[in-house]
Amino acid sequence: MKNIQRQVIIAGNWKMHKTISQATALTEEIVAAVTNEKNLPEIVVFPPFTALSAVEKSIKKGPIKLGAQNLDWHDEGAFTGEISPLMLTDLNVQYVLIGHSERRQYFGENNTTTPLRIKAALSHGLKPILCVGELIDEREAGLTDAVVSRQVGAALGELTAEQFAQVVIAYEPVWAIGTGNHCAPAEANRVCTMIRKTVAALLARLEDSGNDLENLNANHLPILYGGSVKSSTITELMKEEHIDGALVGGASLKSEEFVSIIEAASDRVKRAAKAASTASR
Ligand code: PGA
Repeated sequence: MKNIQRQVIIAGNWKMHKTISQATALTEEIVAAVTNEKNLPEIVVFPPFTALSAVEKSIKKGPIKLGAQNLDWHDEGAFTGEISPLMLTDLNVQYVLIGHSERRQYFGENNTTTPLRIKAALSHGLKPILCVGELIDEREAGLTDAVVSRQVGAALGELTAEQFAQVVIAYEPVWAIGTGNHCAPAEANRVCTMIRKTVAALLARLEDSGNDLENLNANHLPILYGGSVKSSTITELMKEEHIDGALVGGASLKSEEFVSIIEAASDRVKRAAKAASTASR
């Protein structure tokens, strides 16, 4: 598993924060800090729907990508309050969060609706970041791996090999989100490794059914960690082999903090590039 160069991703989930003017100011600060920097990870910001258009204008010239926090799986129709994939691609959105634990806890998202959203995103060329993670009661009952692998299997179990190549997963233990209590890096890495094995098993099923899996295996899939990531904790997390980046909530709302997290991830990008060039010599 060494020397596999997976994409490193730092994603900022702004949740229900930032008016248009606040979102524009934050974006401009991040763009100013990262434009012209080398070895950047893939940087994605997820503003609320109302600020997507303004943020899209502010990131035009920089390396930052635009994401949305959710989508409906219909293209259009009588679904008051929902946002369709077509509306997102119209705004040059490239990524979308699916199955975030706050959607699961407060808005009825579940293992039946996540696959519908994943397929809708993929069929419109949007890259889904599937969020999975256990509740504290589930962890204490020893159910972490069962819950997380079920969430992964439900959301991704019906994808084709080609679609798999577009997917990102974020492991976000629910008890770590917004609490200041992040998961110990070694334990987060253990769960991310388990997720990778779950994906490998899904891909093996595809292979059995005759799909062409050339150039695709579970080792290429980026897996992020999320849950109280800060500039003071990112470096330790990024040392773990199976953690390929972070989905950052609270700490993505301040440019200085978010940029420090990006810089820490840049070190990992640099190390990986160096290792690859040494290996190829
Ligand atoms: P947090 O949120 O970094 O504020 O814990 C992470 C998330 O919910 O994606």
